[in-house]
Amino acid sequence: MKLPSRVQLIDVGPRDGLQNEKQPVPAAVKVELVHRLQAAGLKEIEVTSYVSPKWVPQMADNHEVMDGIRRQSGIRYSVLTPNLKGYEAAVADKPDEIVVFGAASEAFSQKNINCSIAESIERFAPVVEAARAAGIAVRGAMSCTVGCPYEGEIAPERVAYLAGLMKGIGVQRVDVADTIGVGTPRKVQAALEATLTHYGIDQISGHFHDTYGQALSNTLAALEMGVWNFQSSVSGLGGCPYAKGATGNVATEDVVYLLHGMGIATGIDLDALVDAGVYISEQLGRPTGSRVARALLAKRAG
Ligand code: HMG
Ligand code: MG
Repeated sequence: MKLPSRVQLIDVGPRDGLQNEKQPVPAAVKVELVHRLQAAGLKEIEVTSYVSPKWVPQMADNHEVMDGIRRQSGIRYSVLTPNLKGYEAAVADKPDEIVVFGAASEAFSQKNINCSIAESIERFAPVVEAARAAGIAVRGAMSCTVGCPYEGEIAPERVAYLAGLMKGIGVQRVDVADTIGVGTPRKVQAALEATLTHYGIDQISGHFHDTYGQALSNTLAALEMGVWNFQSSVSGLGGCPYAKGATGNVATEDVVYLLHGMGIATGIDLDALVDAGVYISEQLGRPTGSRVARALLAKRAG
């Protein structure tokens, strides 16, 4: 066991969390959510994506949201860019990091971004090149590293293959995503091991959806390997429109509680984070998806 003493969390709630919402969420609410997350101590926030508004209508307000944020120094604001068209729109809004997103599963690549894995790498290459030339950091999300809604179980070799392709085009760090939350600790560790054949431990983050309730266990399994970057969504928001039935990311509140309980620093104020979760849950008109938030709110009420 080589547990890290500090963990960096990327809250992906404004992007992964809200992209799947059927009801319109005003840009002002998204901006306020980002403000509350930064006030709670998040140092990385995935704000929005520059994808087709026909495919993901909820992210059509990307420019308005990026423009509305009062930025704080020391915070990294990232956005998703699937192709050059998305990159060109994004770059005008000055993100600190762009994210290209591919999949370890061919079928998911087709459903999500309408091209094969090989074609996706061809589309990402000029995006990565342009971003790096402009001094913008580049992350690569790797979907379906454990299981795919269309192909079932995904072998670690396919994760290693995608990680190698990402590395080959200059992607600086990668997210190992369990898109549909089917992973269990040993399987997630195998996906991380496969990624480690191309990226160092400092360049790998865990992105675990909690559909089957395994995300915290998977987080612990990744921590035991030394992974110290994770993505999560305040209030457990989220899901991918092209991964039917997949629920949100693990709740940031729950991850923070786990980490602080283990003596691992995050720089996040859990109470302020719970308040941010209450804010967005009230806006969406439903209870928080965070168990920790529910427990702490009950304690406050008592
Ligand atoms: P396409 O249809 O293959 O693209 O879509 P195209 O180049 O043929 O263009 C078709 C139309 O889309 C054209 O418009 C383009 O202008 C427009 P039209 O002439 O029909 O009016 N277009 C764009 N518009 C805005 N921004 C762009 C853009 N590109 C083309 N960037 C595309 C390819 C990738 C655009 C499409 O498939 C798409 O938008 N997919 C959405 C994918 C998505 O956002 N998925 C959710 C995020 S990924 C995720 O959640 C997983 C993650 O969390 C990790 C995990 O959990 O696994 C990251
Ligand atoms: Mg996701």
